[in-house]
Amino acid sequence: MKKVSVKTSSPYEVLIERGSIKKCGELIAGITKSRKVAVITDNIVNEIYSKTVINSLEENGFECALFCFENGEQSKNLSVLGEIFDFLCDFGITRSDVLVALGGGVVGDITGLASATYLRGVDFVQIPTTLLAQVDSSVGGKTAIDIAGGKNLVGAFKQPALVICDSDTLKTLTPENLSCGMAEVIKYGMIRDSELFEKLENHTLENIDEIMDEIVYTCIDIKRDVVENDEFDRGERMILNFGHTLGHAIEGWHNYTGYTHGMGVSAGMCLITDKFAPELSERLKKCVTAYNLPTGTEASMSELLPYCSKDKKREYGSINYIVCQTVGKAEIRKSAVSEFERIMGE
Ligand SMILES: NC(=O)c1ccc[n+]([C@@H]2O[C@H](COP(=O)([O-])OP(=O)(O)OC[C@H]3O[C@@H](n4cnc5c(N)ncnc54)[C@H](O)[C@@H]3O)[C@@H](O)[C@H]2O)c1
Repeated sequence: MKKVSVKTSSPYEVLIERGSIKKCGELIAGITKSRKVAVITDNIVNEIYSKTVINSLEENGFECALFCFENGEQSKNLSVLGEIFDFLCDFGITRSDVLVALGGGVVGDITGLASATYLRGVDFVQIPTTLLAQVDSSVGGKTAIDIAGGKNLVGAFKQPALVICDSDTLKTLTPENLSCGMAEVIKYGMIRDSELFEKLENHTLENIDEIMDEIVYTCIDIKRDVVENDEFDRGERMILNFGHTLGHAIEGWHNYTGYTHGMGVSAGMCLITDKFAPELSERLKKCVTAYNLPTGTEASMSELLPYCSKDKKREYGSINYIVCQTVGKAEIRKSAVSEFERIMGE
């Protein structure tokens, strides 16, 4: 079993091992004295993994209850959060008990927010089952829901008490969902790790499973380092947003339908690299293409730029964006929005 120890304000371990979901009960028993666990998941993950998780928890003496909501981003809202609070209350969860987020980033984000706020804070364990959730959303403590005004606008920082990553669970993902997570993996290679990037160049979507544990470990270790230096997202953590300013704009232009976050990030990384490091562009495009990800978008820059101005990373007429001029090294740049628009629109 590989372990990453995350030393944030509240420290925790990320455990990475194939098959670890089957022994989650034993692993969770190691971090709590409580024997009461509320498992939160979505309907697709529920069908495939809830039984395994509940069996393991019960075998280890836990009393369990399960809350399941409809899969998809549209469930990451105030109404489902309210249902989760009612479920926790009905089950009699106390401040010493534990919530388990079993699923992708949607389950992790909403369960994390419930855990940050219910009874002013209850421990939670992440069992991420998508590649995006394993390499990104389950580590770092950002939790959120969406409101009518935008995605992730209501949230809290709440570090999990434990993260259990079983890369065997990624075998049941759709190819589109696996590609979506690969966009974040490629991002880590671009911003911090040229060796990782080279490994990705030597694989494709078809054979990436061979090195999946190693990839998950490497990405989490990069995220650990960045988050330990900037837990509350005031500086360095911004480098994790490489490709995201334009990516979010492209997702917004597509009305968040039929276009995944990973596709947006992939196209966003390529567009920004085209402008600021054109000598790297072909290499990056070849890599994303091997994972069935787009290298651009049909939307014109003038159509996308209004969506950039809604970006959370914008402040007082300026915008922060991330540029990689060499593989493995990222820099945060700040420009007046008008200057950014001029460069991107050229
Ligand atoms: N908190 C953070 O730091 C952070 C970072 C990045 C993204 N996010 C959030 O993460 C969310 C996206 O996460 P996601 O891409 O995991 O989406 P998701 O949670 O919606 O999962 C995608 C789909 O895959 C299904 N699924 C999950 N695991 C599966 C498995 N093992 N086998 C088969 N199907 C499975 C789900 O039911 C869902 O339909 C967004 O809401 C985004 O805002 C949060």
